[in-house]
Amino acid sequence: MSERQRVFSGMQPTGKIHIGNLMGALSNWVSMQEEYSTIYNVVDLHAMTTPYDPADFRQQRINLAKMIIAVGVDPDRSLLYFQSDVAEHAELTWILSVMTPMGQLERMTQYKEKADKAGQNLGLFSYPVLMAADILIHRVHAVPVGDDQTQHLEITRDLAERFNNRFGEVFPIPERISPEIGARVMSLQDPFSKMSKSDANTKATVLLTDTTDQIMKKIKSAVTDTGSEVAFDWDNKPGVSNLLEIFSYFSGRTIDDLVAEYATAGYGHFKVAAAEAVAEGIAPIREAYEGMSDAEVSAVMSTSAEKAKVSAAETMSLVKGAVGLD
Ligand code: AMP
Ligand code: TRP
Repeated sequence: MSERQRVFSGMQPTGKIHIGNLMGALSNWVSMQEEYSTIYNVVDLHAMTTPYDPADFRQQRINLAKMIIAVGVDPDRSLLYFQSDVAEHAELTWILSVMTPMGQLERMTQYKEKADKAGQNLGLFSYPVLMAADILIHRVHAVPVGDDQTQHLEITRDLAERFNNRFGEVFPIPERISPEIGARVMSLQDPFSKMSKSDANTKATVLLTDTTDQIMKKIKSAVTDTGSEVAFDWDNKPGVSNLLEIFSYFSGRTIDDLVAEYATAGYGHFKVAAAEAVAEGIAPIREAYEGMSDAEVSAVMSTSAEKAKVSAAETMSLVKGAVGLD
């Protein structure tokens, strides 16, 4: 049997995990365990690029690890560790950084947005290089992320190609994997902006820790569009289209099927049915999350990090040999 292809993805321990994270990224993290050799990170070094409090940060790192396991990432099948526990991520970042043109980093839209809000720092500027190192350190083939990571994946692919052309074939060129439905889940309060961890309006996001009651309220108060027909039409009905994608994901039913049933049912009835499907899907995740102890999660993270160090060291040895550091 041929060796499995490898997959890497990461998530920052900042803010609370929402259904956009689940639909855009985590659901693929879980399903890809079937066919790939999967490696996932809590990217704590990335989270340090914006202001944070160390005590909160410590807990958020653990909470995110717990949530990743609660949604179905199985530490017996995947490596799941804290980025900062495997120093090779940072080491490879340096080598890639000397090959990264400043102009390419200056064009990153996420940098511009974050620098406007949180202030500039060198780490925030070189954030995409650390992300490229995360992906390349395990020489993976695929990266499950939401649509907002497209630019970051492009720079990773450029760096891999540039490295290979200059120093010889070391890295596979990784592909971005995004779902057909849910690659960009929109805010419940503003269907023109992305559902985001940092949204100050708590009604805009459904969290994976929300209770059934909270979920019902949030979805019932979601912004819908003028008219009363339930139709899948992003240009004219962005609010309803967003809810249709969410409803489809959580019910396992196709959008066509939902439109056929709810077209003329009225927004109120449609939203209650969608909310019930979401609440039903979130309940087992919330329960799994609440049932895990910090200690048990920490132990799992350390075991994985030890295994990941072996793979990371192998890549670093190839890289050092290629660039003349051996
Ligand atoms: P973040 O919330 O920015 O830390 O992103 C973590 C992961 O979730 C990344 O793979 C994102 O692409 C994905 N993601 C974040 N927000 C959304 C969203 N609103 N819709 C779909 N995917 C998302
Ligand atoms: N930039 C990603 C985000 O904001 C997080 C991330 C860091 C990541 N390193 C990664 C995602 C490597 C995929 C692969 O969501």
